[in-house]
Amino acid sequence: MNADLVVVGSGFFGLTIAERAATELGLKVAVLDRRHHIGGNAYSENEAKTGIEVHRYGAHLFHTSNERVWEYVNRFTKFTNYQHKVYTSHKGEVYPMPINLGTINQFFRSAMSPTEAKALIAEQAGELAGTDPQNLNDKGIQLIGRPLYEAFIKHYTGKQWQTDPKDLPAEIISRLPVRYNYDNRYFNDTYEGLPVDGYTAWIERMADHPNIEVVLNTDFFDDGEFGRSSVLGQVPVIYTGPVDRYFDYAEGDLSWRTIDLEEEVLPIEDFQGCSVMNYPDADAAFTRIHEFRHFHPERDYTKDATVIMREFSRFAEKGDEPYYPVNTSEDRQKLLAYRDLAKGEKSVLFGGRLGTYKYLDMHMAIGSALSMYDNKIKPHFTGGAKLE
Ligand code: FAD
Ligand code: NA
Repeated sequence: MNADLVVVGSGFFGLTIAERAATELGLKVAVLDRRHHIGGNAYSENEAKTGIEVHRYGAHLFHTSNERVWEYVNRFTKFTNYQHKVYTSHKGEVYPMPINLGTINQFFRSAMSPTEAKALIAEQAGELAGTDPQNLNDKGIQLIGRPLYEAFIKHYTGKQWQTDPKDLPAEIISRLPVRYNYDNRYFNDTYEGLPVDGYTAWIERMADHPNIEVVLNTDFFDDGEFGRSSVLGQVPVIYTGPVDRYFDYAEGDLSWRTIDLEEEVLPIEDFQGCSVMNYPDADAAFTRIHEFRHFHPERDYTKDATVIMREFSRFAEKGDEPYYPVNTSEDRQKLLAYRDLAKGEKSVLFGGRLGTYKYLDMHMAIGSALSMYDNKIKPHFTGGAKLE
């Protein structure tokens, strides 16, 4: 085996570690992925018939307020000035999201000022004042009042969890953002945009270093040059796969939600006029529709066709892609036990979304990889500090 460091998983976490170790420390790094491509869930490709870039594992919007992460990612790609906006189609009418004064005034057929709208929502939320919400349904009503909750949140959340919100724990939501102005930008980070030449070009530039060897279609738990049994104890390993799988599910399975995406190419220029339309009513089984051409209005895409994806959400079973941690109290108990086991693996560091059982946006995955590099990897290779 010819490597100083083995990175399991070529998502943004793993690639950031590999890039830093190769570029700054001159280490030889092997990056393994069991998929046929690098980039983890941020991977994108051009749909074959239309040439429209589609994000294979669900729409990915880049945004950050972290100066260091912004400076770092700009070494590999330029960003467009795309600003994400979402709309929602409720009972045959389209409203702006997240819930803002435009949504509220359209919904109540009114022209309230911010102060008037705040007073109305406070009054409606007062329905359950003084009670301790025992489920997500009551919590939602207490946060934004029954009318807005039932229109825009109740069934949407029910579809996301395949569970009636009356049977979901209240802690799933701590707040429901309502904006008492007409701002409907989805993110309010300092920086936002999409990679000018697409995600895959960005990702490939991160891995494009003579010291980085990318090994695809290869599972760390299979035998082979870079498999666990060959590398453990030989060189440090950065593991970004599922933490429960690493320990053979010894403490039980951590639970995840996954999504199914149904792609359709339509022989029209524009299906919905925006990149994401939510479907918050019970009559549609999907939660939202993505139309990928709208992520890049600056590109000269065909006018003869468009690509849409309907998104369905469900609990993940073994073999499904784990996407969002469910994070029940049993999950949190298991996670603590896995963290103890992980501490005992002296030459392995666990990172990323799957390795820490934490939902991480791209900028968070990159930021946390840069910290792990600074605090553990660089000190280990330059000063002999323990990895742990
Ligand atoms: P991943 O990208 O999941 O990469 C992990 C890699 O490890 C995978 O490629 C996997 O194949 C590989 N692997 C696992 N086990 C093994 C093994 N045993 N052997 C070899 N390889 C293995 N972020 C945003 O900032 N904006 C968004 O809009 C956004 N939307 C998202 C939508 C969805 C549906 C999901 C799931 C995530 C979204 N994210 C978004 C988050 C973004 O995808 C993550 O930040 C990123 O995936 C984290 O990177 P990671 O490297 O931790 O994990
Ligand atoms: Na460890």
